[in-house]
Amino acid sequence: MDTTTVGHSFAHDSAARHVDGRAIFIDDLPEPRDLLHAHLVTSPWAHARLSGIDLAPCLAVPGVVAVATAADVPGVNDIGAILKGEPLFPDEVVEYVGHPVAAVAAATPAAARHAASLARLTGEALPAVFDIRTALEREEYVCAPMTMTRGDVAAALAAAPLRLQGETEVGGQDHFYLETHVALAVPSDGGALHLYSGTQHPSEVQHLVARLLGLPQAAVTVEVRRLGGAFGGKESQATLVAGMASVLAWKTGRPVKLRLDRDDDMTITGKRHGFLLRWDVGFDADGRLRGVDMLLAAGCGWSADLSPAVMSRALSHADNAYFYPAVRFRGFCCKTNSQSNTAFRGFGAPQGMIAAEAMLDDVARHLGRDPLAVRRLNFYGPGRDVTPYHQTVEHFRLPAMLEQLEGSAELAVRRAALDAFNAESPVVKKGLATMPVKFGVSFNNPMMNQAGALLMVYTDGSILVNHGGIEMGQGLYVKVAQVVAEVFQVPLTMIRVSATRTDKVPNTSPTAASSGADLNGMAALQAAEIVRGRMAEVAAERFGVPVGEVRFEDGVIRSGNHHIDFAELAELCHAQRVSLSASGFYRTPKIHFDAKSMTGHPFYYYSHGLAAAEVAVDTLTGEWKALRVDILHDVGRSLNPAIDRGQIEGAFLQGLGWLTMEELVWDRQGTLLTHAPSTYKIPTARDLPKDFRVELLANADNPEATVYRSKAVGEPPLMLAISVWLALRDAVAAVAGPGVRPTMGAPATPERILAALDAAKAGSR
Ligand code: MTE
Ligand code: MOS
Repeated sequence: MDTTTVGHSFAHDSAARHVDGRAIFIDDLPEPRDLLHAHLVTSPWAHARLSGIDLAPCLAVPGVVAVATAADVPGVNDIGAILKGEPLFPDEVVEYVGHPVAAVAAATPAAARHAASLARLTGEALPAVFDIRTALEREEYVCAPMTMTRGDVAAALAAAPLRLQGETEVGGQDHFYLETHVALAVPSDGGALHLYSGTQHPSEVQHLVARLLGLPQAAVTVEVRRLGGAFGGKESQATLVAGMASVLAWKTGRPVKLRLDRDDDMTITGKRHGFLLRWDVGFDADGRLRGVDMLLAAGCGWSADLSPAVMSRALSHADNAYFYPAVRFRGFCCKTNSQSNTAFRGFGAPQGMIAAEAMLDDVARHLGRDPLAVRRLNFYGPGRDVTPYHQTVEHFRLPAMLEQLEGSAELAVRRAALDAFNAESPVVKKGLATMPVKFGVSFNNPMMNQAGALLMVYTDGSILVNHGGIEMGQGLYVKVAQVVAEVFQVPLTMIRVSATRTDKVPNTSPTAASSGADLNGMAALQAAEIVRGRMAEVAAERFGVPVGEVRFEDGVIRSGNHHIDFAELAELCHAQRVSLSASGFYRTPKIHFDAKSMTGHPFYYYSHGLAAAEVAVDTLTGEWKALRVDILHDVGRSLNPAIDRGQIEGAFLQGLGWLTMEELVWDRQGTLLTHAPSTYKIPTARDLPKDFRVELLANADNPEATVYRSKAVGEPPLMLAISVWLALRDAVAAVAGPGVRPTMGAPATPERILAALDAAKAGSR
């Protein structure tokens, strides 16, 4: 299939505006008259019973107009995304340092901030739990434990020739989107509310704010033009900020803006879950797995938020690309007194996958075998193709991709050179690791895999499309515009994508699970095909030919010697009273999942990737460098190779930050100490590998009928960064004798690398 627009590298529609500052974010909107600015009053305790919230000193500050607490919520004070029981404002118990208990609205941001600092909270401290191990011991969970099984794991482990146990811990990660959480709530005509919200999930914000205010959903409109990054952090948690702004707006009858500054954003909102991972694995002398029993425990923070779904995805990715003949995964969503952790690029899959990778690494080192050989030996394959959730793996591309990467990255030659280098080099040790990624695409909850679009063609031939997806920098809008341009065969400049609004496309799913383009691209395609069909009929009648002979090409509609410009045809349709607008709707086929038994066919297809990372570690300081990284990634038939490449590079670097430098530190009282870039180190362009080779898998049409045979790209490449963590462990292993398994969790900061080096040296004595 030849395409003219899809598959070509168009720049992000806002690229220039992102750079020169003309792109409008919520805080850049012209401020409405009588606008109030909000600031939050937060808990100083990690866990306490509130006995008093004295806001009189706040109200005495000049410029302060109103305060709000739980008592000011006119409807239902609950913003739980999956489970109930997450009040917008707590009324009895606060559960982490930073838990917002009240909000102040004032004429200026400075007055609101100052006033909020004067609130007098009284309460009685309660015992708090800060770490996963303690919560696990005490069985304190935010939701019921989960089990995913296939086969008899106990029997398989007992019968296995070899067996070992291991454990690792991986830390969380702050999203560090450039635009912090923000909402602007504007009371509008007839008792309605117009809400600009920095959210990945406008429909959820709409539905929950309507419930908070006791309004019908139809009275609340949420509008989102773009987000300055989200990475999952604005999937559920935007509701908190939107909800508080809305309650204040409702109470005062005035527009209210709430924009968290960086420190407040980091202190108040949830992050990637840290995980404790334990495995008990049986295998044979070649390293072929016989049985895997794994425990995954997540530090969820104070509430459930999206944690049950995150855990479900962690469990369904703890196999990564490997066949486990018998398996049991147990997932525990541990309750801790911290920010409520949430979606973050990968949504639990990275934590599940790193368990698989660490376990296979252990098996290989225990046997003294090449970890890559052991990985390959355990790949899914014919007759070994059923996942722990009982979906059969189809169209598995990793074996062929590995062959390609072994050639292009010269893995064998470099391994030999590296071993020779390490034998000669006493201080600097190099490490090399190659790992696969298999990522299931679709929301685990089948209901969420749907999308809608609304498309209109105007009489000058310009086209406006609206869909339920959110643009957060990932290039969704340009991809959808490309799809529409392709259907009509008009230049991309004819297409505009307008801000996402709940009053244009209702009841949408969040833009998440990497499926934004898959879902909304298909809905837009469908809407465009409906309108094109009507236009083709009008053209056919004008030409006096059967409709099947009408072709759209180059902005012109033709048949034989007849032709008419696209704009002229639009005009003609209008003159003939033929509708030039349509809505499209798409639901992903083939998927089903039973959340109770944790079995089914949750994923429409898999995306695949491979990374080979080489690092050099200074064994005296623990400092390191990424020397070279080769990536081969499967995006199906790319809708836009430039955008996809950007997603792969960005995701990889974000994953590298998670696993090597971003460290969240709380003090003994539960206060987050790393709440600003001065103490929380995110990667920059300078941290890219010196030699970074990213390749899109060629001739890779998605065998499933996705939009132009493309595949999702947003999250999967983040997990390719696990290769760097594995390469660091490989370098650590180089200081030890054979058989030693490095013990190093993540993030692999220089301190952790030094500790792992010491342990490895001690282990080999
Ligand atoms: N890319 C940018 N620039 N900014 C983001 O916030 N979020 C990621 C990914 N890429 C993100 C991003 C996450 S977590 C997801 S789920 C996908 O984009 C969502 O968009 P998509 O489904 O359209 O790929
Ligand atoms: Mo992405 S974590 O699914 O928003």
